[in-house]
Amino acid sequence: RHSDPYQLDSHTVLYGVIGDPVRHSKSPVMLNRAFRETGINGAYAAFHVTPDRLGESIAGVRGLGFRGLNVTIPHKVEVMAFLDEISEGARAIGAVNTIVNDNGRLVGYNTDGIGYVRSLKEEAEPDLSGKTIVVLGAGGASRGILWALAQEKPAAILLANRTEARAAELASAFPPAYRISAIAWSRLQAACAEADVVVNTTSVGMSPNADGVPIDPNWLKPGAVASDLIYNPLKTAFLRRAEERGCRAHGGLGMFVYQGAYAFEYWTGTTAPVAAMREAVLDSFG
Ligand code: ATR
Repeated sequence: RHSDPYQLDSHTVLYGVIGDPVRHSKSPVMLNRAFRETGINGAYAAFHVTPDRLGESIAGVRGLGFRGLNVTIPHKVEVMAFLDEISEGARAIGAVNTIVNDNGRLVGYNTDGIGYVRSLKEEAEPDLSGKTIVVLGAGGASRGILWALAQEKPAAILLANRTEARAAELASAFPPAYRISAIAWSRLQAACAEADVVVNTTSVGMSPNADGVPIDPNWLKPGAVASDLIYNPLKTAFLRRAEERGCRAHGGLGMFVYQGAYAFEYWTGTTAPVAAMREAVLDSFG
């Protein structure tokens, strides 16, 4: 702890995010706000690391004794080869977004999926057990969310993707006890009519193509939760139109905040100041 949180000194503990590209990242603003809010003497910066420099960047974390790192596109899978240990969740997902440096031992975690689920529970649906969940999209973002949703013991998770073979492949990568099954895109209307939660993990509706919707929002039953991983715009066309139908809308900003909150908690052992972190991100949107 120190009295002037803006003053870096010889005790400052360093953190960062590596990605390519990385200059758009809101993580530095969010995590530096968390350090300031909690009085922790830490500093967090963004590092543009191209794939050919990934190994050197991790060697740098070891060499300089950074306490933690976030990892973003396109390094979440490849970075695992440079770590000493991978958590059970990150191993199941096959991707790491958070590294903790424990006295030179680098441990990889994945806080994306659990960040999403914590946000969904805090902001939209506290109890997911026994619920029916439809997940749209079988890309990189979908994988972590499927794993984390399955830990909540829903009745069923139905996975649909435009390219149907990708959904089948992803669903079959999880144990049968997770109750994740791939369904044809043509079966979505019927599936959504029965679903308690419908999550969009596709890029459809993302700025600058913000008019797009992944499915017809009128397929959802009124009262169901419509959830979107996209946070630019904060409320997608899918969420706005689902809300008009009487659904509860859950946007993607909370996932971003809580994945950072979990990382902060793994690094510092201190409860993350979630409200301040969210405010910092919203302020940076201007
Ligand atoms: P991410 O890592 O963000 O999930 P990704 O791996 O490129 O990104 O996956 C993008 C997802 O959005 C995929 O599920 C993709 O479907 P396909 O596998 O069929 O490409 C989905 N997606 C992108 N554009 C889409 C569209 N116009 N309609 C439906 N799905 C779309």
